[in-house]
Amino acid sequence: MVLRTIFGIPISGNPALIMVRVLSGSRYSLVVAVWALVGCVLMLHLYSLIHPRERSEGDIEFHLSQLQLTHELQASQDEGFQIPPPRGRRSPRAIKRRPRRSTTLIEEFLDETSQVRHMFFPDQRTAIDPMKEVGDDNMYFSPGKIWLDTDGNPIQAHGGGILYVEKLGMYYWYGENKNGPTYHAHKKGAARVDIIGVSCYSSKDLWTWKNEGIVLAGEETNVTHDLYQLNVLERPKVIYNDKTGKYVMWMHIDDANYTKASVGIAVSDYPTGPFDYLYSKQPHGYESRDMTIFKDDDGVAYLIYSSEDNSELHIGPLTEDYLDVTHAVRRILVGQHREAPALFKYRRTYYMITSGCTGWAPNEAHAHASESIMGPWESMGNPCIGGNKVSRDTTFFSQSTFVLPLPKIPGFYIFMADRWNPAQLNDSRYVWLPLSVGGAADMPLDYNFGFPLWSRVSIFWHRRWKLPNGWNG
Ligand code: DGJ
Repeated sequence: MVLRTIFGIPISGNPALIMVRVLSGSRYSLVVAVWALVGCVLMLHLYSLIHPRERSEGDIEFHLSQLQLTHELQASQDEGFQIPPPRGRRSPRAIKRRPRRSTTLIEEFLDETSQVRHMFFPDQRTAIDPMKEVGDDNMYFSPGKIWLDTDGNPIQAHGGGILYVEKLGMYYWYGENKNGPTYHAHKKGAARVDIIGVSCYSSKDLWTWKNEGIVLAGEETNVTHDLYQLNVLERPKVIYNDKTGKYVMWMHIDDANYTKASVGIAVSDYPTGPFDYLYSKQPHGYESRDMTIFKDDDGVAYLIYSSEDNSELHIGPLTEDYLDVTHAVRRILVGQHREAPALFKYRRTYYMITSGCTGWAPNEAHAHASESIMGPWESMGNPCIGGNKVSRDTTFFSQSTFVLPLPKIPGFYIFMADRWNPAQLNDSRYVWLPLSVGGAADMPLDYNFGFPLWSRVSIFWHRRWKLPNGWNG
């Protein structure tokens, strides 16, 4: 008798009868069905590798030219920082009693008297002045350097975001104007600057910014007003409502002790304001501190905010006019203690960058992804590439505020972050870097038959970089 095996099962007899027996025997048929399923999944995966989702022949051609465009953006640079030796002479006895440990880079960053302060906050002499830079220096972003507007003044748009108004071919950058003295309202309180208002800058090339003025001003006399100068206005973001034709601004509104924990809403007929302040509230009845808004492709907009003592984020759709939240809300990233959310979408997946909660001090960014904006959201770890370990672990000494899509280069974005200067908040800097979505995630937590669901989100460190030719058409 011939002894054969099928999928490891010993079978004997006429080959024609073998299949009948395999298929009819209940134990065997179950094993065959399982193996057939595994085969199908493998075939499907192979197919999706050869024909990635939604990619046509035209896409492939575009992809090739895109590779040339984006090659430089992804070539991140490494940094080797030298920490200076401890300062001041000490007697051998003092050294024996308490040996002085050398400082860490993050301590140097936070020390306003550090000898290497210029590494984090380069001085006026290296400022980027779009009205003066010519030739090869033109159009280079230099993260951390002072960035001047077209009048020659440092740009004041912290914790900001950008709105592209297609009909005008213009980008508008809104952010906190912090151009006042930094002080502590209480001994233990965080460093602060009084509310001056929300600044707006306009640009066609994302590099040369014209100051459009303060589009929502702080209130100097009425102490009961949300925008009273001794309160807090942070992270303003503006979106356009196609149905009402209004520009709608959402922002974090608080008192000096951060106990009001609310959102504020303002509205204007024009991108350059003036914006009328409407009201503040705790959305869905919850605390709301760091926040952002996101307008999806279908026109539905969402509010995302840190809540429950910053231990989790909440997300929910806005009403059709974008002037309030609806009743729908989901708790996301529960227990992860994240803030500074910046949300974006690539193809059908939603992505978000967040920071940890350490006041004005920088910390590690995390990237998150979800198939549905309302969650569940998965965390994918630190997206930063290049620099050095400390700079990667501190988001290049900055904190996320916004991710701007570059629609002509699908999968590429500008990551916008603030390098806060707690000693002088008005001298906080901007860290803009290329961000891409693609490749396998390093820390995939969610699996689909053994294959990670999410692409990697990468933020590439560059001392200076420029957008590739053709980024806008
Ligand atoms: C971190 C937040 O992200 C900032 O917007 C600001 O609120 C600071 N905390 C205040 O310490």
